[in-house]
Amino acid sequence: MKIRTIILLMVICIVGISGCTDSATEGDVVSQDAEETANGGVDMQVSQPDASSLFSAFTENDAYKGWSIWPGKEAMMEGNGVHGDYVSIYVSDNALSSAEIGGATMPYETMVVKEGFNADKELTGIYLMYKSEGFNPENNDWFWAAYSSEGDVKTEGRASGCIGCHEGKEDVDYIFMNA
Ligand code: HEC
Repeated sequence: MKIRTIILLMVICIVGISGCTDSATEGDVVSQDAEETANGGVDMQVSQPDASSLFSAFTENDAYKGWSIWPGKEAMMEGNGVHGDYVSIYVSDNALSSAEIGGATMPYETMVVKEGFNADKELTGIYLMYKSEGFNPENNDWFWAAYSSEGDVKTEGRASGCIGCHEGKEDVDYIFMNA
């Protein structure tokens, strides 16, 4: 009798547990699907930033000119020539405290905007690094864009040219100024 009772209990247990597990799994699957769909929509936007919309966002009302110049640097400083004889490098407000640390990893939604000028100090191009969660995890999620001085998009995305040179600064989040 005892053994039969134990077996019966075990059967009840197993059915109970598997029943529970089944419904839990189903529940998980359903909620995961729902999450994936919900996130799917958001991810599409987050993982596909658009250079032209970003340009409108950071130039609207000269927004970026209200940001700080990279801590410790000056506006119209001498560049090494890649992006211009002179450069001004601005960092978005959400990243300023990280930039002040030096060597830190920037938070998501950081924008680093760089103006390039020729020897006569005329604006020749604008360059953007925008950190977008999930956009390019292999290279610290930076979205890269290069614009003419008028804002025409020259390059955008996971630009291998930009990454190829900036990855020399991988240890400081791909930012030359972040030493
Ligand atoms: C051959 C190397 C090289 C390439 C290619 C390059 N950069 Fe740079 N970049 C630099 C250097 C060096 C600096 C530091 C400032 C300076 O001296 O002009 C810099 C600075 C920057 C900055 C300011 C933040 C920082 O790193 O200090 C931005 C933004 C930027 N580059 C964007 C771009 C984008 C966008 C591209 C691709 C279209 C690109 N860069 C391609 C070398 C490069």
